[in-house]
Amino acid sequence: MTTHASIIGIGSYLPERILTNAELETLVDTSDEWIRSRTGIVERRIVADDQATSDLAAAALTAALMKAGIAPNGIDLLIVGTSSPDMLFPSTACLVQNRLGMVCPAFDINAACSGFVYALQAGVSAIESGRAGRVAVVGADALTRIIDFTDRSTCVLFGDGAGAVILEATDEPGVLGIALGADGSGADLLKVPAGGSARPITRDALDARENFLTMNGSEVFRFAVKIIPRATNEALAASGLTVTDLDWLVPHQANQRIIQTVGQRLGIPSDRVFSRVDRVGNTSAASIPLALDDLYTSGQLAPGDLIALVGFGAGLTWGAGVVRWTMARPTKEA
Ligand code: ACO
Repeated sequence: MTTHASIIGIGSYLPERILTNAELETLVDTSDEWIRSRTGIVERRIVADDQATSDLAAAALTAALMKAGIAPNGIDLLIVGTSSPDMLFPSTACLVQNRLGMVCPAFDINAACSGFVYALQAGVSAIESGRAGRVAVVGADALTRIIDFTDRSTCVLFGDGAGAVILEATDEPGVLGIALGADGSGADLLKVPAGGSARPITRDALDARENFLTMNGSEVFRFAVKIIPRATNEALAASGLTVTDLDWLVPHQANQRIIQTVGQRLGIPSDRVFSRVDRVGNTSAASIPLALDDLYTSGQLAPGDLIALVGFGAGLTWGAGVVRWTMARPTKEA
């Protein structure tokens, strides 16, 4: 019998500190009206001074393990999707593994905002090949650490957070088709120029503010509204399904205008396109599992629902996964 992978636990974590549009108005030449109308974002969360990406990831994973009823040492593999690791190395996954007392192999995947779907693919592959029985897949980012808070074109967009799922080997398929893609010719559209081997952190690099994220927003917007429908249809085709079979679209939460446009292009009713970008902004690799956890916790997901998870980001990268939801609705006390 073929082995499949299903989601048996989900959890998420947001830092406590809320950064409002009103506060951003005091930092750069922007307005609440501009941010709301161009992005849909009202507020976002940012890490405390003593928090890092591994703290967010560990909190989300702890919640997912509790929901699954699995002890940390019951996991065979830990994968963390992140592009804002605590350090260049060791991997954030190793820091989380140690924090939770896990004993399994652990590694990071950097596919920027597509990181969660890339990590999901790696986790599903490990289970389907029989190399792991249970895999923890985390998406976690603290992009506000690499955002230039003097650059109004980027600092209004991003927030911090983490989300995690536990995958387990099952007879019935939970995660169906996944379609991933990359186009490195778009690498310059969204990047952090300094801090890697190409451009180490020097006084010159700091003076030029090259240690911060830079983005060509309009080009990324154009890419996003084209690639999300394509990737969704590819993942559905790989599952032997079409868009009319979908109960929910959970796209990467970058901009409400992108979310709305792709919903329309796919012909999915707006009340079936999940969005919480207003409250959290763009949390990069965390955004899809955070949104999925919100959808689940709100009681809107029913067992058997078919969901498309779709991400896009720096690289350029993209990825879509089709999931048959198998977890029971949350109980009141959960
Ligand atoms: N407040 C006020 N004005 C602003 C701000 C701001 N915060 N930011 C930009 N502007 C100005 C610009 O300077 C420009 O002024 P000008 O016409 O005088 O030059 C004007 O607003 C319009 O700028 P555009 O860039 O054309 O605005 P647009 O409507 O395209 O919105 C945005 C910009 C929100 C960035 C949009 O392009 C977008 O969301 N792009 C996609 C970004 C994205 O999804 N990135 C995440 C990728 S995932 C990852 O891997 C991290």
